[in-house]
Amino acid sequence: MKLLITGGAGFIGSHLSTRLIEIGHSVIALDNLSTGSAENIAGLMGNSNFEFVQGSILDEKLIHTLMARVDGCMHLGAALGVQRILERPYESLVANTHGSEIAIKAAAELGKRFFLASTSELYGKNPKQPLTEESDRVIGSPQLVRWAYSEAKAIDESIVQMFHMSHSLNFVTGRFFNTVGPRQSGAYGMVLPRFVSAAIKNEPITIYGDGSQSRVFCHVSDAVNAVLKIFFEDKALGNAFNIGGKEEISITDLAKRVITLTNSTSKIEYLPYSKAYPAGFEETMRRVPDTSKIGSMTGWKPEFSLDEIIKDIEKFIRTSS
Ligand SMILES: NC(=O)c1ccc[n+]([C@@H]2O[C@H](COP(=O)([O-])OP(=O)(O)OC[C@H]3O[C@@H](n4cnc5c(N)ncnc54)[C@H](O)[C@@H]3O)[C@@H](O)[C@H]2O)c1
Repeated sequence: MKLLITGGAGFIGSHLSTRLIEIGHSVIALDNLSTGSAENIAGLMGNSNFEFVQGSILDEKLIHTLMARVDGCMHLGAALGVQRILERPYESLVANTHGSEIAIKAAAELGKRFFLASTSELYGKNPKQPLTEESDRVIGSPQLVRWAYSEAKAIDESIVQMFHMSHSLNFVTGRFFNTVGPRQSGAYGMVLPRFVSAAIKNEPITIYGDGSQSRVFCHVSDAVNAVLKIFFEDKALGNAFNIGGKEEISITDLAKRVITLTNSTSKIEYLPYSKAYPAGFEETMRRVPDTSKIGSMTGWKPEFSLDEIIKDIEKFIRTSS
């Protein structure tokens, strides 16, 4: 198959492009290189099954032209990272709603299979954990810009559903929970690359808030496997699936684990949210995925332990700096 990967020079998109080519597909990667980078796809340049197009998902004509050349599209292009969204709220909202609408509409009109990259942010502050695909969205006021990313991805999920009904769009949605691994940048507020970078330099590790908030991390390689399982499985079409890891850990314990595994002398420091983020930030205290839906349909399960994930990120940062 020939596939269009929007956000193909990003963290997950570049790993997905590599894997697709490894298993015999060809890829057109579209990216505006806002948070993605040429470095992420350097290993693919020159490969006859790979083409890179620098451009925006907001360019309707370009999207239509590219979509006409492929058999399917995996839509990962988006503005993300809590910090980036709080700093550039309007630009992010437009990319994450209108940009997705353009890609979804083109796929629907041209009859292409579609993967939508959605997020665990969708569930917001829902205290009932673990989160299943049917869990409610519990989010804060729309006056708090912090929730705009969650809102945008929820709208995207509604749009794919509507095109499924009106145009029989063949789609699957993957709701990624904290996906991490080599190539992820710490520059936009992603916690693990930030912690590991600081630990390697024996610099203080700064925790935002009191550190009792917890997360479950999934290695990008596991996440890519999950996307492939649902995208190529006909029974999965028309459905949304959680994609997440297996070990819940508080952010304080995560910092301690990073320090131990990297043999670091870093100290842990705490910064109140009011100092870490612009006004309008609300924390999600727990976010634990229930991945039984994808597991029972496709047999997928996350393989990487948290320690393996941390060691892999450490190796990447040490070799690339
Ligand atoms: N990494 C995670 O933990 C996580 C969690 C939930 C959801 N997701 C979703 O997965 C997808 C990939 O995220 P990622 O972690 O790889 O982040 P990323 O920032 O590395 O990837 C997003 C890519 O989209 C590109 N992009 C942004 N705006 C664009 C535009 N207007 N036109 C074309 N390209 C544009 C960026 O340059 C970047 O390469 C996103 O849709 C994101 O919302 C990721």
